[in-house]
Amino acid sequence: MLESLPLPSPHVNRLTDASDATTDVLIVGVSAKQESSATLDRLNKAGDGWIDRLRNRNTISSKRGKVNKLIPAVSDAPPVVLLIGTGDDTRNSRVAAFEIAATAIRAINNNSLARVDIALGEDFDPTTHDALVAGAISACENLAIYHSDPSVHVPEAIHFSGISQDAIDRGQIIGQAIIQTRRLVNEPAGVIYPESFAARASEVAEKSGLSIEVWDEKKLEAEGCRAILAVGAGSARPPRIVILRHQGGGDEAPLAIVGKGVTFDSGGLSIKPGDGMVDMKCDMAGAATVLGVMQAVAQLGVKRNVIGVCGLAENMISGTSYKLGDVIKTRNGKTIEILNTDAEGRVVLADTLDVTVENAPSSIVDLATLTGACMVALGMEVAGLMTNNQPLCDAVSQAANEEGEPVWQLPMFDLYDEKVKSKVADIKNVGEGRWGGAITAAKFLENFVGDTPWLHIDIAGPAFNDSSKPHRDAGASGVMVRTLLNWVQS
Ligand code: BES
Ligand code: MN
Ligand code: ZN
Repeated sequence: MLESLPLPSPHVNRLTDASDATTDVLIVGVSAKQESSATLDRLNKAGDGWIDRLRNRNTISSKRGKVNKLIPAVSDAPPVVLLIGTGDDTRNSRVAAFEIAATAIRAINNNSLARVDIALGEDFDPTTHDALVAGAISACENLAIYHSDPSVHVPEAIHFSGISQDAIDRGQIIGQAIIQTRRLVNEPAGVIYPESFAARASEVAEKSGLSIEVWDEKKLEAEGCRAILAVGAGSARPPRIVILRHQGGGDEAPLAIVGKGVTFDSGGLSIKPGDGMVDMKCDMAGAATVLGVMQAVAQLGVKRNVIGVCGLAENMISGTSYKLGDVIKTRNGKTIEILNTDAEGRVVLADTLDVTVENAPSSIVDLATLTGACMVALGMEVAGLMTNNQPLCDAVSQAANEEGEPVWQLPMFDLYDEKVKSKVADIKNVGEGRWGGAITAAKFLENFVGDTPWLHIDIAGPAFNDSSKPHRDAGASGVMVRTLLNWVQS
């Protein structure tokens, strides 16, 4: 099988001098409001007002995210200047800072460059600078991980001017967390399965100073985790639960983040058609998000206690697969009837949430590529929020709005409760028909969180993209890493 490759890690520095001919590419912002910046002025003067001349002839676009590649005929200037449009009123926007920096880095990734300088700090307020750095770093990861002749290059060094060292450090940590999450999701199921995910988590824990517990199949058996074991029963790769702990808040109750980690979802005996199965290596995106966020929480030294719990299983077909009509006693004692083995995420999360509750968290946020129904309801770009606690939902929504990751709340009316009741067991793992499928899935999960304030985020749509955009590659998105990091620090 394939070997896993190291993550991209350009040297990141704070630049205090002006860029010169030792820079390969200088990235500068150009605003639609005719505002200038020190770097733009300096370039303009060094070339006898050449930037003004270009602007006056409308040969430069200042539209948000538009890239203008210029070759200045000025000695001691960098050989390439990339002017990128910052649009209107983006100074305070963390999303604009993130996306514009990412777009600029992606626009030059067909060459292998020694040094890229980014002067965009001048175009954005300091409150956005960590997002700007994170955007540049996150753009260094692409899904072409296994090209034998690399088509995508990462600069050896990226220098930022006009940005504090603190923002650079924070941005680098956030960017590396996004890269970590995206890589885990982009790697195929032959590389990332429950055991190898857990091994990756152990490496991350060791490097970043998290404590970690890995429950293997024997421990899961001893703990009565029959639900996650049932989902994994058809696979040659046994399930795992991984518990990561960050201790930064004394003896306060921890915040908990929980992820669905189905490393491949074939659907099981309720098998998916090929079209629906091709991207199902992405079904562990929730767990990968938890690992990325926990890595950053430790590296940032967040002054809270935070635990991350990943429920890892592979949903496969064999003579030992769990079956339709099976009734399973979960860890918290509730019984579930299996009516569709493709509704496996909620079954994995049943035990995973119960293990989390036992850690007495003050609140739980779970992330899961849980339902196609959520994609039908909200489209590919919007995550669905379902909660038993409105203030918690509002706090995470606000963090998502600040980071520009679209989310939308779906209702959890009592009337949905009866739709997951079963005749032979306490609950069944499907709702009634396809209707309200995202919500009935959440109603199932609600049985396993007790009275703990809880928010479920269905990321089936935004976790994995069919096509690329100027600011990001296709494939894994790393969605919700920024939102959760914003939330745990608020
Ligand atoms: N992992 C899928 C949901 C999914 C679909 C995620 C597409 C990302 C992209 C999940 O396990 C699933 O199969 N859900 C079923 C539930 C149904 C059988 C009740 C679905 O949504 O069809
Ligand atoms: Mn499924
Ligand atoms: Zn699934």
